[in-house]
Amino acid sequence: MEQYIIRGGKPLMGEVVIGGAKNAALPVLAAAVMTDGECRIDNMPDVRDINVLLQAMKGIGATVDRTDKHEVVISGRNINPDEDVDNEYIRKIRASYYLIGALLGKYKKATVALPGGCDIGSRPIDQHIKGFEALGAKVEIINGRIQATADELIGCNIYMDVVSVGATINIMMAASLAKGVTTIENVAREPHVVDVANFLNSMGAQIRGAGTDIIKIRGVEKFNNCEYSIIPDQIEAGTFMTAAVATRGDITIKNVIPKHLEAISAKLIEMGAKISEDDDEVRVRASGELKSTQIKTLPYPGFPTDMQPQMAISLALANGTSTVSESIFENRFRYVDELTKMGAKIKVNDRTAVITGIEKYQGANVSAPDLRAGAALVIAGLAADGYTVVSDIGYIYRGYEDFDLKLQKLGGDIQLVKNEQEIAKFKYKVV
Ligand code: EPZ
Repeated sequence: MEQYIIRGGKPLMGEVVIGGAKNAALPVLAAAVMTDGECRIDNMPDVRDINVLLQAMKGIGATVDRTDKHEVVISGRNINPDEDVDNEYIRKIRASYYLIGALLGKYKKATVALPGGCDIGSRPIDQHIKGFEALGAKVEIINGRIQATADELIGCNIYMDVVSVGATINIMMAASLAKGVTTIENVAREPHVVDVANFLNSMGAQIRGAGTDIIKIRGVEKFNNCEYSIIPDQIEAGTFMTAAVATRGDITIKNVIPKHLEAISAKLIEMGAKISEDDDEVRVRASGELKSTQIKTLPYPGFPTDMQPQMAISLALANGTSTVSESIFENRFRYVDELTKMGAKIKVNDRTAVITGIEKYQGANVSAPDLRAGAALVIAGLAADGYTVVSDIGYIYRGYEDFDLKLQKLGGDIQLVKNEQEIAKFKYKVV
């Protein structure tokens, strides 16, 4: 079983280049099957969830030509619309549900296995179903699969009961090939929602308003070829920003869109970090004492829920008492028990964590409970005294490309190990 072993205590210093956004690339790849032409998509992150989705798309007959690590050419011309999207790959990831919106939009039918994904809450799909039904589809859940069919899809007005990234994107995809105009209100405004709208428009869709709380879509007949480049990953960038703060380092994070990082930058500045911005990079420095603050996760442009664990591990090293309220998911504090093994003082009550700052973490054996918490525990290990072994790092592979290699380049003493012998060797090597 692979693990990371980390010798903490060294400030991370240097530069790191951010990859494409996983949560934009997943729906963009799914949407690419909506054309019988070819979509050339680059700046795609080489992470496990992406590779699983590409396998699933091949499984239903999409042509997937991986031209390089970060670029793929996709066409939906050979897809068999009667094929159920249900293979071992598809059940592993949440993003598989984007194939429903894509296939329903194009073929007016889709059968896709119910999604998987990180266990951070119940993660219902009622809003997705509400949108598909409003467009005229019949949606049933049969034998663990979602089956959506429609004689035709007719544009309409939809009001989202919950601000949902996935449902906003899924409904936008289906509506883009419907007849007439669809208006979706109370939508998610995340950068990756805008990226998917831009991608669909590059294939010939007519979508306006993405990034605001109302999206208007005029349906078109079919899509064409396109070339597209995925936006930089806001959450990977934010993860390295908190790594600079937790280890009291100095990191320049390159290939970012600073505007997407505003909520994260604002909170780190409240903690005492120094942040300077350029067109496509941010530099984050922290030294000495960190200040406590309050975090409440909200839909964009609020503080992102995917940055909640990483922020909490930094606040656990700040002076005084901080609070973190998780308003999006009901089970996103599973890392707290692991962090307590490292000396953190955190009390969780329902959806709020009260954090009393400590001087230093002590290294320990911990296990990643999900993707973002896994990354956060690695950062805690880098800030700790002594050695930390992080297990279940397969979660981290789902959303971070070369995470250990990027941290090593910043001076982090972290290594991928496969057994106790390799852990022992790491501990006795002369640094
Ligand atoms: C996306 O999940 C991301 N995943 C998540 O990132 C991210 O945390 C989340 O958006 C919020 O930003 C991908 O993009 C693959 P939601 P998604 O629908 O679409 C409720 C990561 O670490 N809801 O915006 O599943 C839901 O329960 C992952 O990269 C309904 O009630 O999130 C939650 O409370 C973790 N009914 C809230 O909405 C629905 O039909 C937001 O969920 C759909 C959602």
